[in-house]
Amino acid sequence: MKSTSLGILIPYSKAEIILSILRKHRIINVDLEFIRKDKTIVISVNTTDDNLRGLLESAAIDFDYSIDTFTFTKKEKQPKNLFEAVQDTIPEHLHEHIPKAYDIIGNIIIIDIPEEIQAFKLDFGKALLSLFPSIRSVYRKASAVSGELRIREIEYLAGEKKCETIHIEHGIKIAVNVCEAYFSPRLGHEHKRVADQSKEGEVIIDLFSGVGSFPLHITKHKSTTVHAIDINKEALKCLGKSIEINNLIGVIIPTQGDCRRVADTLPKADRIIMNLPGKAQEYIDVACKIAKPSSIIYFYQFVSSSNPFEDMKEILKKKLKEQNWIIKEIISFEKIRESAPREIHACLEVSIIPQHK
Ligand SMILES: C[S@@+](CC[C@H](N)C(=O)[O-])C[C@H]1O[C@@H](n2cnc3c(N)ncnc32)[C@H](O)[C@@H]1O
Repeated sequence: MKSTSLGILIPYSKAEIILSILRKHRIINVDLEFIRKDKTIVISVNTTDDNLRGLLESAAIDFDYSIDTFTFTKKEKQPKNLFEAVQDTIPEHLHEHIPKAYDIIGNIIIIDIPEEIQAFKLDFGKALLSLFPSIRSVYRKASAVSGELRIREIEYLAGEKKCETIHIEHGIKIAVNVCEAYFSPRLGHEHKRVADQSKEGEVIIDLFSGVGSFPLHITKHKSTTVHAIDINKEALKCLGKSIEINNLIGVIIPTQGDCRRVADTLPKADRIIMNLPGKAQEYIDVACKIAKPSSIIYFYQFVSSSNPFEDMKEILKKKLKEQNWIIKEIISFEKIRESAPREIHACLEVSIIPQHK
């Protein structure tokens, strides 16, 4: 694209002097390219002929220059965000559907593209690759998270067709297979929060560890023993890789299988992590089996945002009662993120004791 503008033609060897004067007065047209020809350069300015001449005279410029109207090439605008990168490709009446957020997992992006703009999905792939030079692959969410393994279908859009990456969370390297195991980059703060509460020498059991984010955070800085249980063998493969590439102070003991089946092989725990929202309540009997008086439970749920604390407390109290355990102390209630409209992912942290008969 071309554009005409007032410009100053000077010898190339004097460019630095003139540029410093023009920059000081903020009159360079930054959207237009310089014109370089033979040993001269033309710089576009956004001021009047008289003003420019006045500035050059007061700076005592004593070499030849000429001020005239020139035709410049417009600089190609680098998009600053996804909207800018795709807005020219997508009809204006659909712009409201362009997503503002996407998940960056290591060097992979996973984006949720609304139905209304599915036809442009490959443009999103290309746009995201060019926006982020460090990104190697782009996928779109093709289903909700579902099933026992809590994974979703994803569809390849651009870049390399690969599912493995290393995600860095608070300095911890987490190996992730985005096609075969659950992982959410939105839980980084929660992983750290729980890890910060653990104490040297504790035994901690993560009943639904996935790729092992909680165990990695906990053992990174403290001498603890963390049992990581997950039914998904691909998730535990990732954890094996992460154990090798992080300098962990504590020890992680991964066990693949249904936590109910492996519960008998586990020691009593100081802390029990139960991040299987929607189903964690079905495993309170397992938690009670590995608990000792005053063990701490991190109980995760998806709950209605209208009364989340009371709702979660009631579910937990009821399930503990069935096992003859009760809440000794409510330690904290943490709203982690919005999981759906009017629904939040939350964590209720309590200590528990057996109920006296
Ligand atoms: C929400 S994900 C785990 C998230 C992980 N704690 C994190 O923060 O990234 C739940 C995990 O529970 C596992 N899972 C589901 N049912 C299980 C069971 N009965 N025993 C052990 N793991 C189970 C799934 O394979 C999945 O990896």
